[in-house]
Amino acid sequence: MTWSVEVRRAPDPGRLAADVREGLTKTPVEIPPKWFYDEKGSQLFDEITELPEYYPTRTEAAILTEHAAELPRVGTVVELGAGYSRKTRLLLESVQPSLFVPLDVSEEPIREAAVRITRDFPAIEVRGIVADFEDELAPLPGADGARMVVFLGSTIGNLTPGPRAEFLRRVFRATAPGDLFLLGADLVKDPIRLVQAYDDSAGVTAAFNKNVLHVLARELDLDPGALDPDDFDHVAVYNDVDDRIEMRLRARRALVVPLLGLEWRISAGEELLTETSAKFRVDGLRTELAEAGFAVVTTWTDAAADFSLTLARRL
Ligand code: SAH
Ligand code: AVI
Repeated sequence: MTWSVEVRRAPDPGRLAADVREGLTKTPVEIPPKWFYDEKGSQLFDEITELPEYYPTRTEAAILTEHAAELPRVGTVVELGAGYSRKTRLLLESVQPSLFVPLDVSEEPIREAAVRITRDFPAIEVRGIVADFEDELAPLPGADGARMVVFLGSTIGNLTPGPRAEFLRRVFRATAPGDLFLLGADLVKDPIRLVQAYDDSAGVTAAFNKNVLHVLARELDLDPGALDPDDFDHVAVYNDVDDRIEMRLRARRALVVPLLGLEWRISAGEELLTETSAKFRVDGLRTELAEAGFAVVTTWTDAAADFSLTLARRL
């Protein structure tokens, strides 16, 4: 079968500049997590998924392995924030779509996945899309039959509640009544385990977090050395008011960074917020899905209720 990749909206420096300008107005300063994922960032995330402390990927894979055969067959599987689509293979075997559409801001993983999936699943056509899932998703390609939109890995948790509700409504608008939505979401648990998962002993998550500084320096054309990742420490804390892990970068010393025609002053000890990763309760997820126009068909979890996979039908 054939594969192709459509670049709808490459992650351009203009967009990064706009996000940085907006982030600088907030306290703490925020850099949206989508900017982690250049080619290196995507590779670092892939390494994170193999870490002993990072339970989400292997737990979600185990849930998928156990329940994939219960998923209905559809004509098209669309995967948002697909990355390398490694776990998705587990469901393609049972769902048997004729079309698979991985969508991600990061192009290289989509290309790799497209090559591997067309090789291993000769009956499936792959049409990758490079796009931002915070933009309108429609029109999505479709083959005959229903669509299943798949959003794995708890990437939904990297959206804060307002943008999350908007995201779910975008999925609603891009789908038709009867289409399916399969959502992976990490669950609330012991904060000690959560912090370990985001601050691993090998330092891979620290490198992933600091990668956003490399992306900033390169894409915004900063002077060499103007923003040195070694001037920051990786910090992961659990915020038990908002039920989320927060990844931050803490400045080791006071810095003045010339960027975008400004002098960005960072105090010693100041923390930049680079990612929030919400942890969910099954009932809360059901409510959020219902508010966006989806009826939950079923929720599966592992025996320890560490992670959830929810199948919902678009009304
Ligand atoms: N689904 C995979 C990868 C999760 S990592 C898994 O479960 O392992 C999060 C993925 O979402 C990355 O590949 C990243 O590039 C992508 N991503 C993050 N923000 C995005 C956005 N705004 N639009 C599209 N893709 C995004
Ligand atoms: C992609 N996303 C769901 C990951 C998470 O767990 O929030 C990103 C990540 N950040 C640190 N480790 C992994």
